[in-house]
Amino acid sequence: MDIKHICCIGAGYVGGPTMAVIAQKCPHINVTVVDINEKRIAAWNDEDLSKLPVYEPGLDKVVEEARGRNLFFSTEVDKAIDAADMIFISVNTPTKTYGKGKGMAADLKYIELCARQIARVATSDKIVIEKSTLPVRTASAIKSILDNTGNGSEVKFQILSNPEFLAEGTAIEDLLDPDRVLIGGDTSTAEGKKAIQALASVYANWVPQKQILTTNVWSSELSKLTANAFLAQRVSSINSLSELCEKTEADVNEVAKAIGMDSRIGSKFLKASVGFGGSCFQKDILNLVYIAKTYGLNEVADYWEQVIIMNDHQKRRFAHNIISTLFNTVSGKKIAFLGWAFKKDTNDTRESAAIYVADELLNEQSKVAVYDPKVSEEQMYADLDYLNTRSSEENREGVSVFNNPYEACKDAHAIAVLTEWDEFKTYDWQKLYDQMQKPAFLFDGRGILDTDALEKIGFVCYKIGSGK
Ligand code: NAD
Ligand code: UGA
Repeated sequence: MDIKHICCIGAGYVGGPTMAVIAQKCPHINVTVVDINEKRIAAWNDEDLSKLPVYEPGLDKVVEEARGRNLFFSTEVDKAIDAADMIFISVNTPTKTYGKGKGMAADLKYIELCARQIARVATSDKIVIEKSTLPVRTASAIKSILDNTGNGSEVKFQILSNPEFLAEGTAIEDLLDPDRVLIGGDTSTAEGKKAIQALASVYANWVPQKQILTTNVWSSELSKLTANAFLAQRVSSINSLSELCEKTEADVNEVAKAIGMDSRIGSKFLKASVGFGGSCFQKDILNLVYIAKTYGLNEVADYWEQVIIMNDHQKRRFAHNIISTLFNTVSGKKIAFLGWAFKKDTNDTRESAAIYVADELLNEQSKVAVYDPKVSEEQMYADLDYLNTRSSEENREGVSVFNNPYEACKDAHAIAVLTEWDEFKTYDWQKLYDQMQKPAFLFDGRGILDTDALEKIGFVCYKIGSGK
């Protein structure tokens, strides 16, 4: 089957970059990314590439090359659905905030709306692809909707699972050179196999055949949740040991290096931190825990839930350490945050550890001053308001946002590094020190600074997982 038109529903952190790369690598395919969020689509169409709604190194170049040629961003969802041979569903699947499964299960209402819309609009056969991260067995619900809520025309649908493994900050590299592309489908029928082949041939334009893995649809759906659970579990494992290192004069970076050189363990994802953030690790593990519980697998659920419990502990512990180090009171004291994003090289702040550390400090009446190279002031306030801990006015009173790090740190009692932005390493730390209250405390939540050199300047340093 020759794919000529692709539609992607959802122009977010996954839909936008993923489709931009498909369009760049497949100039013979027209790719239209649609979204109901008009502001987002307008930003994707902005002439000024620095205004794209997603910040990712290299994304602007890819968009510049393909946009207007075979890559289009639009709010005309129905039109794009009907024109497409292949439709990616890449909408958000957040944790439910209401009803059964509140706080754990994935909220699938946006997925269901997409399936109903496709069924209503389609007048020709379509391959429908789950790009969003979904609970295992969602494809059966999508199939049921597509097959039973149609518009009367004899349209046939094939459903595939094609989870996305890109990480933010390295999305373009990850898309151009993925470890693997996973495609799950109905391997028991000729039509199912044909659909799998059609999608595989899109990726084959730039991904080597041996890295395109095909499985049954349930394995594919479950592999995505499993991959995120394993990655997050490594971070929680090393973070749990960072606390033990602090008590025993061991150094977590040395421990990580020593174990990571064992090829069975591997060296990646062993960086101790203030806690993992991002829109997916917590959401996907909670989803896994919920699924296990619905099958009565309580030991399985408890095992994975511990990853989240440890992460919450790590964020809280970092904040409490600041408070206790500052003589048990931060009331009225200025604490400067370097970084608000959940990791470097992204403007995404979803579930960022910085939000929770700020919340704990605000509870103690601290004044928080934030500098982040890519996150807007309104985003920071929106993140705090979303927690509902205090009024919006109180959040604005407690937190001030700066677009210059030196201003943010002026007269601060402490600096806390919450994101590992490279630029933080290049600052004039003597100048920062000179402007601060004394003793000048520094809490490196990312282990990126040379604390020995900073101590020589006069800083009193705390480094995650360092017991000295
Ligand atoms: P996002 O919130 O950035 O984008 C989702 C977009 O879908 C939004 O712009 C929203 O307006 C749009 N949308 C929702 N319902 C719609 C509808 N009915 N019609 C048209 N548009 C609609 O989310 P994201 O970060 O891109 O994540 C999307 C999915 O991909 C999630 O399931 C997530 O778990 C998964 N995922 C995310 C990442 C990541 O790094 N962010 C990586 C891998 C997988
Ligand atoms: C993660 C996965 O890495 C992707 O494969 C997956 O596609 C994606 O989730 C998703 O499904 O959304 P992402 O959250 O963008 O990607 O970024 P990561 O690099 O995984 O980092 C997640 C969090 O863990 C960040 O807060 C990061 O700072 C933290 N982390 C990561 C550590 O604290 N230590 C580490 O060693 C690695």
